[in-house]
Amino acid sequence: MLRSWIKAPVRHLLVARARTRLPALAARLAEPARMLLNGLGRALEAPDPVAAPRIARIEALRRELLADPTELEVVDYGAGRAGSGPAPTIRRPVAVACRASKSPFWCRILFEMMRAMAPCRAVELGTCVGISASYQATAQELAGGGHLWTLEGAPALAALARRNLEGLGLSSVTVVEGPFADTLEGVLDVAAPVDWAFIDGHHEERATLTYFRAFLPHLAERAVLLFDDIAWRPACVGPGRPSGGTSASPCRSTSGRWVSV
Ligand SMILES: C[S@@+](CC[C@H](N)C(=O)[O-])C[C@H]1O[C@@H](n2cnc3c(N)ncnc32)[C@H](O)[C@@H]1O
Repeated sequence: MLRSWIKAPVRHLLVARARTRLPALAARLAEPARMLLNGLGRALEAPDPVAAPRIARIEALRRELLADPTELEVVDYGAGRAGSGPAPTIRRPVAVACRASKSPFWCRILFEMMRAMAPCRAVELGTCVGISASYQATAQELAGGGHLWTLEGAPALAALARRNLEGLGLSSVTVVEGPFADTLEGVLDVAAPVDWAFIDGHHEERATLTYFRAFLPHLAERAVLLFDDIAWRPACVGPGRPSGGTSASPCRSTSGRWVSV
């Protein structure tokens, strides 16, 4: 109760502080980090007239889904299950499934960073009902076009996401159905060179590192990989939290080809 009461003012303060600090920070950064930071800065302002109606349509869809009691048979890729044996199937209302989607705040950040980077070939791990995919596909369209491959293990969610993306008129998206372990390599073969990836499913340290390594040979010269639910800590690789998050720290590959920030 107190937490939700205090969340909004704290976020407001953090946003105000970030707004004042971003320009100085951006000036010290090289591309493409500067472009990402500029996108982040835009996400802290009201959406521009081109983006505003597109975002409003996605958020109207989200509201519909959050009020939809229809039950789906969903393969549950909950924490700890995905890598260890077949995932169970459970019944889950669309409204509950939709709650796993990134919030409007984080989707807007994703959207503006993607517009700033204008990636041509993007991959998302974890489609759910297609909310973050809608933001990304729209950002890509507004930035000049491209294609998004989004991967989802639960067939019922993949089908619903396809309908939602079609309903928004987003045709440059492919929803790929099946466990990441079975689908990722094939998608990377087709999608390479990948210049944008958003990893938002199977949040376990070992799985995350496996997906990261799978991406490396398929990346464009300048690529951005975004990982949701990362907990920063001193060691680069090591025992992470048992579930619900992944540990990582700022680090550089020995080849110097990639750097995490
Ligand atoms: C957090 S939700 C994704 C939310 C979505 N990115 C959004 O913000 O709109 C994670 C999704 O990944 C899927 N998932 C998790 N682990 C998976 C795996 N190993 N293989 C395939 N899908 C998986 C789940 O079914 C779930 O729908």
